[in-house]
Amino acid sequence: MDTSSSRGVASRTLTLPNLQTAFNGESNARACYLAFAIQADHEGYGPVASLFRAAARAEEIHAANHAAVLSGLGAEPASQIEVPLVMSTHENLKAAIRGETYERDELYRAFIVQAEAEGQRKAENTFYLACEVETEHARLFTRALVDLDKLRIDAAAYYLCPICGFTVAGEPDFAACPVCSTPAEEYESVK
Ligand code: FE2
Ligand code: FE2
Ligand code: FE2
Repeated sequence: MDTSSSRGVASRTLTLPNLQTAFNGESNARACYLAFAIQADHEGYGPVASLFRAAARAEEIHAANHAAVLSGLGAEPASQIEVPLVMSTHENLKAAIRGETYERDELYRAFIVQAEAEGQRKAENTFYLACEVETEHARLFTRALVDLDKLRIDAAAYYLCPICGFTVAGEPDFAACPVCSTPAEEYESVK
């Protein structure tokens, strides 16, 4: 028996809107990064454009994971996509770092605690996977910002986990995803 359903509808009242908030946030992050990728290409920062496209794909995976949990709870995933505010690639990277850091340190951290308190294991897991991956995104965007002067070169491939969205520069040098243990050979490449 699913212990979450035995706790009744009232216990879901916070995790359900949290899932919707997360679904909306991931959907908007995806739209934002795709727009940032176009801008990076425009400015000749090939590897940064690739990183934004890879992160966009990861956020799409997070949105799909959250949507699956929402559907399982009988709710319909809903998002409102806002027009991304696109500036220079330097500024776009700073905005991306702010967004990833907020999700890592505040949003997902709070959502995980709440889901755990409500016994919502599937929600807790999808929040945990996204939180781990945003941590890596913050690192990758920070490194790109530091190295920006050296990145006016051709695009470089990124690889990402089809299950959790974990994102790495170049082919994985590990056998299994460090976040969700999916075999590295199942990783998909984005350039
Ligand atoms: Fe995400
Ligand atoms: Fe991210
Ligand atoms: Fe993974």
